[in-house]
Amino acid sequence: MSSVRIARNDTRAVHSRSIVVLKPSHPLIRKLKRDLPTPCIHGDKVWDSSWLLMDELRRNPPPKKGTLMDLGCGWGPLSVYAAKKLKQQVIAVDADDGVFPYLQLHAQLNGVEIETRQRRFEKLKRSDLDGVHTLAGADICFWDELTPVLFKLIRRSLKAGVERVIIADPGRDPFYQLAERCEKAFNARVVERKTSKPKLALADLLIVEA
Ligand SMILES: C[S@@+](CC[C@H](N)C(=O)[O-])C[C@H]1O[C@@H](n2cnc3c(N)ncnc32)[C@H](O)[C@@H]1O
Repeated sequence: MSSVRIARNDTRAVHSRSIVVLKPSHPLIRKLKRDLPTPCIHGDKVWDSSWLLMDELRRNPPPKKGTLMDLGCGWGPLSVYAAKKLKQQVIAVDADDGVFPYLQLHAQLNGVEIETRQRRFEKLKRSDLDGVHTLAGADICFWDELTPVLFKLIRRSLKAGVERVIIADPGRDPFYQLAERCEKAFNARVVERKTSKPKLALADLLIVEA
């Protein structure tokens, strides 16, 4: 697999920010879909907010060789970017282990190694967060019940010594509820971001700093 090169003119792939990700229509993805159970909590494509989270990390990079935990990693666009461009040790976490073959495919195509952990956000303990510098997640606060779960996880992570938490979202209500709670409780702010690459996308980023 490491020898597979995805051509820049392949319309079933996206080359952006020095990484390549595949669209659901790509034959390598279709093969995984045929052979394996389908991811079942929306981890079924690369979500747009992840591009805006990458841009924030490029603008304010974490220390090289730091540990970044990608929450709700899905197919792993953020994990791949952080490992490849920011030289992070990445721990990719998702409740749904059906996403990991897609993440590992992207890791191979981009020539990086990523550690994966099947865990629900609510089950991540302080010991899981030890040594993590950056906790990041794109499009992970999409149900009302995720708001308190992520709030408590952010609180645990700050206690465990995490320096920065960034959550990107296209503008769903549970995310704004989370942002409001974090702005009251922590050193937190929300910034609005826009990109035209690889396509027009808007996202709000919740940034919490220790
Ligand atoms: C909308 S997808 C976003 C995937 C990826 N971050 C991206 O931007 O392409 C949400 C991901 O969060 C995961 N997820 C949802 N609820 C979760 C929970 N309680 N604990 C851990 N992962 C969860 C899903 O399995 C899915 O992969």
